[in-house]
This record gives sequence, structure tokens and C-alpha cells, in this order.
Amino acid sequence: MTTLTIAPAQADGTGEIFTDFSVISARLLEAGVRLERWQAGHELPGDASPEAVLAAYRESVDLLNAHYGFQSVDVVSITPDHPYATAMRGTFLKEHTHADFEVRFFVEGSGLFYLHIDDRVYMVLCGRGDLISIPANTPHWFDMGSSPAFKCIRFFTAPNGWEADFTGSDIATLFPDFDSYTSSLA
Ligand SMILES: [Fe+2]
Repeated sequence: MTTLTIAPAQADGTGEIFTDFSVISARLLEAGVRLERWQAGHELPGDASPEAVLAAYRESVDLLNAHYGFQSVDVVSITPDHPYATAMRGTFLKEHTHADFEVRFFVEGSGLFYLHIDDRVYMVLCGRGDLISIPANTPHWFDMGSSPAFKCIRFFTAPNGWEADFTGSDIATLFPDFDSYTSSLA
């Protein structure tokens, strides 16, 4: 399920929560963030290669490439036993920006984006079929949780793929992580 919580930036992550997709996408759009629901109906094995994921979603990938002119595409596929899961989680948990806009298509599982826009943080729990586009230079971080499980196609207009500038802020420590956020929804 996709959810959005909008909270003051200098607080504990408590805020207004939205669960209706059309409301979520409208509120995000007001902040310059696009969230769309795409088809993600392919059943892939847990250890599906990036090539297999891209092949399954070739039609969507081609559509997005044609629309945005992306230069590179890759796949992040994380299972709880992924050898670099802890290290990757730690990297994405630090607030950062990109010179490129960040486009992610969740084809399986879920992950929690925290978008720091002006004096607010938009916590977006993305799930299967969600396509999110975060504007360039938007400070943000991401949590996959302590038992991560998701497959996500990433699109870049830069040929070198993922490059981040870390802000050095510890704001992420003020907010609930993926585990506490998702358990608070239950
Ligand atoms: Fe990012």
C-alpha cells in the first residue's frame, strides 16, 4: 500500500497521513514530485537478474526512455540476505541530493522515501507499481528497512548512473525508520 505522511522537518516525523493514491499524488505534485501508478504484474524469481527484470518491463522502460531521454537504466534488487544490504541501507539513509532527477519504478516490494522540501518532510512509502520522480537537487533519503525486499528500476539522464552529494545533515535520525513507520501503519 502506498502512503504519504507530511511532517514538519524539525520534529519527530509525526504528521498528517494520506492513504488515497489520488490524494497522495496530488499532494506530492504540489511539492513538485510526480507519483504515478504503473503496471507491475510480472512474477519474477527472487534471484532474477537485472537483465531479466529489465526484459520483463521492457515496454515500460522503453516508454519512459522515449519520454525522458534517459541515458542509463539499472535495477536494484534487494533481499534480506543480500550481502550488501546493510551497507546499502546505510548509504541511502544519509540525506543527499542528485544533480539528476531521481526516477524509480518499484516492480516488487516496498521502500520509504523521505523528501525534505522547504520546512517539511514528505515520507512516501512506495510499493509495487509506483513510479516516483524526485526533482533534481531535492534533499532526500531512503530506507529499505532491516529486512529489505524490493526490486526497483532506476533511470538516469546521466550516463554514469547513481551519483549523490551528501548534505552532512543528521535529519534522518529524527524520523521513524522503515520498520517503525510501517509497523505504525499496521
Ligand atoms: Fe537519492
